[in-house]
Amino acid sequence: MQIMTRRQFIVNYSLAVGAMMGAGAIPFGLVPIKPAFAEDIKFIESNCDNRGKKILVAYESYCGSTSEVAQTIADVFCNQGANVDLRHIETIKDVSSYDGAVIGSAVKSASWYPNAIAFVKENQNDLKHIPVAYFLTCLALYYDTPETQELAKSYFNPVLNAVPQVKPKEIQSFAGMLDYSKMNMIFRMVMKSKMKKQRIPEGDFRDFNKIESWAEKSAWPIMSTV
Ligand SMILES: Cc1cc2nc3c(=O)[nH]c(=O)nc-3n(C[C@H](O)[C@H](O)[C@H](O)COP(=O)(O)O)c2cc1C
Repeated sequence: MQIMTRRQFIVNYSLAVGAMMGAGAIPFGLVPIKPAFAEDIKFIESNCDNRGKKILVAYESYCGSTSEVAQTIADVFCNQGANVDLRHIETIKDVSSYDGAVIGSAVKSASWYPNAIAFVKENQNDLKHIPVAYFLTCLALYYDTPETQELAKSYFNPVLNAVPQVKPKEIQSFAGMLDYSKMNMIFRMVMKSKMKKQRIPEGDFRDFNKIESWAEKSAWPIMSTV
């Protein structure tokens, strides 16, 4: 599978959408092609300097909402006495000092974002020796049914297949957020049309009680028993 950088993805996607819509629909020069997502999105990072296990909570997010999911997980670990680094994947240089890692990504086209998969791949030699948990956020879980649960679980397949040496002890999918104000005009149009067909409205569908509960009851026991 080819892994694209964020810049490559944005450029390719914008060009592809532009081509699909036809030169007549977007006269060259009239609609500037901006990055697909807003530039003022905040990617939360924090440290919690306890003396316990050193845990990395790493995430990829494009519209920003997955960073608060990751922060919730990091806060739970912090309250359990762990020494936690919450990091946006793009700022992580080295994972060799961690005792455990939770890695998550928003979903785009039925997969983690390519750079989240690339991060696991690049760091597999360290990650395969420590307990790892994966999570994702998506909109399939706007409808909570056995079918959508199964679909959301399948979104892990690209990363599981790309890096089989890293075996997460726990994987979990969460409902995410849809915020058109974070997308550029072209992306907003494409997403609006897709979401209309699937009858998914704009909104915040993250369930922070569920996220906290998963962090405390499922992810933390894995991290703390190393
Ligand atoms: C371009 C794009 C493609 C998406 N593709 C999917 C998808 O295939 N399946 C799905 O369930 N959700 C999909 N989503 C929804 C996002 O995964 C969801 O909104 C997520 O919570 C966004 O997280 P973020 O705010 O951290 O970027 C997509 C969102 C965008 C913007």
